[in-house]
Amino acid sequence: MPGTVRTAVFPVAGRGTRFLPVTKSVPKELLPVVDKPLIQYAVEEAVGAGATRLVFVTHSSKSAIEHHFQSDQDLEQALAGKEQQDLLALVQDTVPVGVSFRYIEQREPLGLGHAVLCARDAVGDEPFFVHLPDDLIRSQVGCLQQLLDRYEQHQSSVIAVEEVALEKTPSYGIVALDDNGRLREIIEKPEPADAPSNLGVVGRYLLTPRIFDLLATTPRGSGGEIQLTDAIAALLQYEDIFAVRFSGTRYDCGNTLGYIRANVDFALARDDLRDELRSALKNL
Ligand code: G1P
Repeated sequence: MPGTVRTAVFPVAGRGTRFLPVTKSVPKELLPVVDKPLIQYAVEEAVGAGATRLVFVTHSSKSAIEHHFQSDQDLEQALAGKEQQDLLALVQDTVPVGVSFRYIEQREPLGLGHAVLCARDAVGDEPFFVHLPDDLIRSQVGCLQQLLDRYEQHQSSVIAVEEVALEKTPSYGIVALDDNGRLREIIEKPEPADAPSNLGVVGRYLLTPRIFDLLATTPRGSGGEIQLTDAIAALLQYEDIFAVRFSGTRYDCGNTLGYIRANVDFALARDDLRDELRSALKNL
């Protein structure tokens, strides 16, 4: 049943200080993995799962994201004139057909939960995806599609999780599950000693709209920010929530090493780059 969830929210207001100096003028979501910006992988995953309304919760300094998703007639004409059809298709494909783009400013850096709450009016009273573009996932079936498949069984919120090293629990939302993959508990960034498991939340969520009421009353939590995790914990009092151990490989492109790994792996997967890159790496 494609199209059950038509809205995807992309929280992209963060300034990307871990990638300074480049993020002084380039939004971190436009950093390329090989030659495609992270945000474009994100949009393709959401559109692949049937989303037709894309909502970016953004910051005034990051208008380049908006430019990336506008059509560029001059460039298209130039490429068409030179008969560079492959490049023309690449440029045209950045703007998916039948999809609307909306940009909402997050005026204060109050965290992921606050960013999602900013999208409330754009989403309306229906289930929606949240996609964090820093978490790049390579998989046969898109991760959001995997969440949607589970949603269609239960009509409940679904979040993506994977095992993380125990010492890394202070970087993630950590969950405890029952035998059916139903959430029993979720805690934002616990110390390893307090973590209920080593299953970490990855940046893909499919949420029912009740989350907005809960976000509106969620106090500041970890890091002094309004945490989506805390609102999900509150949602558990009203609804079942499921976790999906998605199939695929996740790259944490929010840190330098994860970003470099993604570039190497994605390049090694490309026929036009694999052989030369492999021998270049061997020669290092
Ligand atoms: C956010 C969430 C966290 C989740 C993580 C996944 O944290 O708050 O629960 O595990 O994304 O990437 P952030 O990485 O923004 O600090």
